[in-house]
Amino acid sequence: MNHRITHIKDDIYWVGVVDWNLRDFHGFSITRGGTYNAFLVNGPEPVLVDTVKAPFTQEFLAKIAEITPLDKIRHFIVNHIEPDHSGAFLAAIQAMPNATIYGSENAISGLHRYYNFDREIELVHSGETRELGGRTFRFFETPMAHWPDSMMTYMPKEKVLFSSDIFGQLQATSERFDYEVELPIYDAALYYANIILPFNHIVLKTLELLPKNDIAPEIILPDHGIFWKDHVDEILAYYKCWASARCAHGALILYDSMWGSTDIMADRLYHQISGSDVKVRKMHIRTNPMSRIVTEIMFSKVILIGTPTINDTIFPSVGQLLIYLQGLRPGPGRLWGAFGSYGWGGGGVEYLMRWYRENQHQLIADPVESRFRPSADIHQACDALADTVVKTLGQVE
Ligand code: FEO
Repeated sequence: MNHRITHIKDDIYWVGVVDWNLRDFHGFSITRGGTYNAFLVNGPEPVLVDTVKAPFTQEFLAKIAEITPLDKIRHFIVNHIEPDHSGAFLAAIQAMPNATIYGSENAISGLHRYYNFDREIELVHSGETRELGGRTFRFFETPMAHWPDSMMTYMPKEKVLFSSDIFGQLQATSERFDYEVELPIYDAALYYANIILPFNHIVLKTLELLPKNDIAPEIILPDHGIFWKDHVDEILAYYKCWASARCAHGALILYDSMWGSTDIMADRLYHQISGSDVKVRKMHIRTNPMSRIVTEIMFSKVILIGTPTINDTIFPSVGQLLIYLQGLRPGPGRLWGAFGSYGWGGGGVEYLMRWYRENQHQLIADPVESRFRPSADIHQACDALADTVVKTLGQVE
């Protein structure tokens, strides 16, 4: 097996790159690097599918050139224009003067806004089939999953689906297939929670439309991470679960603390809930990467957020989490609670409650708020909140 230019099947090659040192993926932190996947379907009229992030342009072009001269490439399909996949677009079209470029309507307008070029791009529509160099390609738009231009391309004879960002995961590996590595379900979940979560309804619709359009892939090739081959059914099932909140179980306690009072309350809540058989997690907001916190939110049915008050308002780290969640929209099917502390006057918990209302999150109970160190009354109130969590989860799970 050639790890550098992986032959997938039937003259379909991976010509992407591995970014071993990727830790900040346009704003969210990851720990294991990543890949930008691009593919070459070789034959009498070679077809390129997607490119890579700009710094890897030369490596990417050199890989293609090992398979076929660049000026022999006749077709270039753009599934997605976000710069991690279109960064090498300009260099690619210059190196491939004989290639016809294909993209969705949004891809065409977006590419012209990103890059200065005067090549025509052929518009392809969702459901359209093209015979390119003796191979069949079907295009299937997935607008807003996760960009307006997003599109999948399917090769029905080979049963290969180029799925763009959907089904991706971020990890740097020399191996390319799911059967060669420890199955990266958590990486796929983290990717889903941080990238795809706001578009749950589109994912569900897409998953329904795949079989209706006779798309039954034997291999899924996402634009990031390993390829799904032995575990196609599993990743489809996981996506259904993540998109529908059926994967949400148990309780999650998220908190920050200034002088320890909110910390004490978080401990008390954890102590009381963990005395039951309810699954519970406790995460300090400043200690854990935001990307992992939102992944745990996706897996949780009840989320309790604790904040101290600073300068009459919410603690900055908790506010940052709320802003991030506001865009990710974890959606219905979850219950939320608030707790926290203050010294001179309140404000932190009040801000949190206002945010819950404005974002239409369903509350599990009234908030618990302590002035300075939690008193015996506050401990009892935390126990009561925890008991409500246990009782509610006992009824819904
Ligand atoms: Fe991997 Fe939406 O770019």
